[in-house]
Amino acid sequence: MFTALVIFTIPWQYGPAARLVPVPATAAYLDPMASIQENPGEPNPLRALTLDRLRCRTSMKWRTYPEDVLPVWVAEMDVPLAAPVVRAVTAAMELGDTGYPAGTAYAEALAAFAAKRWGWDGLDPARTAIVPDVMLGVVEMLRLVTGPGDPVVVNSPVYPPFYQFVGHLDRRVVEAPLGVGGRIDLDVLEATFRGLGGVRAGYLLCSPHNPTGTVHTAAELAAVTALAERYGVRVVADEIHAPLTAPGVGFVPYLSVPGADRGLALMSASKAWNLAGLKAALALAGPGAAADLARLPEEVSHGPSHVGVIAHTAALTDGTAWLDALLAGLDENRHLLAGLLDRHLPGIRYQPGEATYLAWLDCRALGLGEDPAEFFLERGRVAVNSGIPFGTGGAGHVRFNLAASPEVITEAVRRMAAALG
Ligand SMILES: Cc1ncc(COP(=O)(O)O)c(C=O)c1O
Repeated sequence: MFTALVIFTIPWQYGPAARLVPVPATAAYLDPMASIQENPGEPNPLRALTLDRLRCRTSMKWRTYPEDVLPVWVAEMDVPLAAPVVRAVTAAMELGDTGYPAGTAYAEALAAFAAKRWGWDGLDPARTAIVPDVMLGVVEMLRLVTGPGDPVVVNSPVYPPFYQFVGHLDRRVVEAPLGVGGRIDLDVLEATFRGLGGVRAGYLLCSPHNPTGTVHTAAELAAVTALAERYGVRVVADEIHAPLTAPGVGFVPYLSVPGADRGLALMSASKAWNLAGLKAALALAGPGAAADLARLPEEVSHGPSHVGVIAHTAALTDGTAWLDALLAGLDENRHLLAGLLDRHLPGIRYQPGEATYLAWLDCRALGLGEDPAEFFLERGRVAVNSGIPFGTGGAGHVRFNLAASPEVITEAVRRMAAALG
């Protein structure tokens, strides 16, 4: 998690909600029917809450900036929770079931979800461990396979806590920047692995990738595996955004890739069902990494919240219709944003991603310098994430959170365009 420290100087009243712009036809790679068949009656959760209601929230997205700022930054979603999650947590409250977590229900729910959703039946609950959240899970996995001072490769630009947590763990971040179209550049990755000089090393893979929304293909992941094996680099895949692929786009779990059996992965229901405040995640090991995972200290399992585990389990088990409605809504928002930018901010380049609810906006042509987020905040009263903490390739970019209503997205773009005058 990361926050921006900002001095607020320019008052700006929140304007009336802008008119909803019609959503252009979906691109050929998307098949909305693939996701909405399961429960066509489930409403789009992104249209359920008013801004007034959202402003009552006390979480980071809503309390970091003053009320006149429209927040489309940190990865929280403007949605009510899926009903099965509310039911499960409410039942736990009524029962007083608020002790310590036990058992493998979360792993079993994820295994069933993975089999149904991604056709992957290789998730063995015996090779999993509950961890407090994904980033602390990443830290624990890197601790298992690297030592102090060892390098950890990341594909910049990437989720800023990758730098923060790896640094805090006393490992060294080494960047292998993404290549054309936000895809992993395998030549750069190989050169980076080779340059590590044979020391013990990790590769923290973000799959799907935050902030570009890139979904790595099976072929790309197979090539990653081959390189990792050739250079003795241990892969830790952060797959928190896995359930958030656009309708019709297939996600490939890293551990399902042939040859990836020494890999470790982190999964969680927290991003896709907006459960970051209900702490829990799962670490997964391939067969060749089972012995490593077995060395995870028992006390790590004390970190996740039992209620979090209950909530995540319910989401994975009974929350798929809600998820599909969300995914359809997010896809509409991707196209809405692309259309709005075309019309009102043509200087911004945006390639809609195939996953996540984050949009990575290249603002370099606007001439706003390294940190356009600062300009949009001060002059437009819109909070987007600065690209700078995302590492090499981040300057001149901002990250925009699409998990909002079409009205909020439209108003955010209106404000950004107005700020430019
Ligand atoms: C790639 C990635 N990993 C991890 C996290 C944080 O997950 P957690 O809150 O479970 O640590 C995020 C949050 O946005 C993320 O985008």
